[in-house]
Amino acid sequence: MHSKPIGVFDSGIGGLSVLNALKEMLPNEDILYVADQAYTPYGKKTKQAITTRAIAITNWLVSQDCKLVVIACNTATTNAITQLRAYFSVPFVGIEPAIKPAALGSQTGVIGVLATAGTLTSTLFQTTSQDYTQGLEVISQVGLGLVGLVEQGKANSKATEKQLRDILSPMLEKPIDHLVLGCTHYSFLTQTLKKILPKNITILDCSSPVAKQTDRLLELNNLNNTNGGNISYYSTAIPNIEVWKSFGVNQISKLEI
Ligand code: DGL
Repeated sequence: MHSKPIGVFDSGIGGLSVLNALKEMLPNEDILYVADQAYTPYGKKTKQAITTRAIAITNWLVSQDCKLVVIACNTATTNAITQLRAYFSVPFVGIEPAIKPAALGSQTGVIGVLATAGTLTSTLFQTTSQDYTQGLEVISQVGLGLVGLVEQGKANSKATEKQLRDILSPMLEKPIDHLVLGCTHYSFLTQTLKKILPKNITILDCSSPVAKQTDRLLELNNLNNTNGGNISYYSTAIPNIEVWKSFGVNQISKLEI
């Protein structure tokens, strides 16, 4: 039995999609969730700027005695996980676009990836993509403006539907059969995406595999808690409580880091 909490962070609300999977798989774990809303979006920031924020947040999570850190953000994982692992001894679980299952499952040989500019230009993403998509066509699009729409609580709005239709149109001219959601904010767009995408396109996100990997690492290191289940939420900006409430979070503290 290990009563220390798990730390989870993202640039904002997007990581709640990962948190939901963690809560389902690990209901007895205490979790500290940090939304770096003073610095959102990460997607357009430099690798250096993203790494600086990821280190600052991890420092705080470690100071709160976290036993493991889940990076619930593709942009932070693909830009900063190597440095984080070099600086901190705590185990990390990251999230990356689900290129491999999309490539393995594709019948048409064409897959779509929707992610931030920061993820798509990262060396980690490009290496994974090269490793698993030999002989396939990968159509990548930056989800321009989508993180902001989710942060404003507009995931299911007409504005978001229009923005998604514009972003996806080059992809939909090709016979993609998988759409990889390479940003944790985009998981909250699934309902709107289902309105737009032909039924034969499989939408892939990585929340459940991340929760499974977290479970595996806890087991492996004998770190499981059997007695917790408390989730505490923190934002580095003054949070818009109405938006957080629409995601099921009623209490959130301001964090100065
Ligand atoms: N939710 C994040 C991701 O998975 C970050 C998006 C952003 O802040 O641009 O990439």
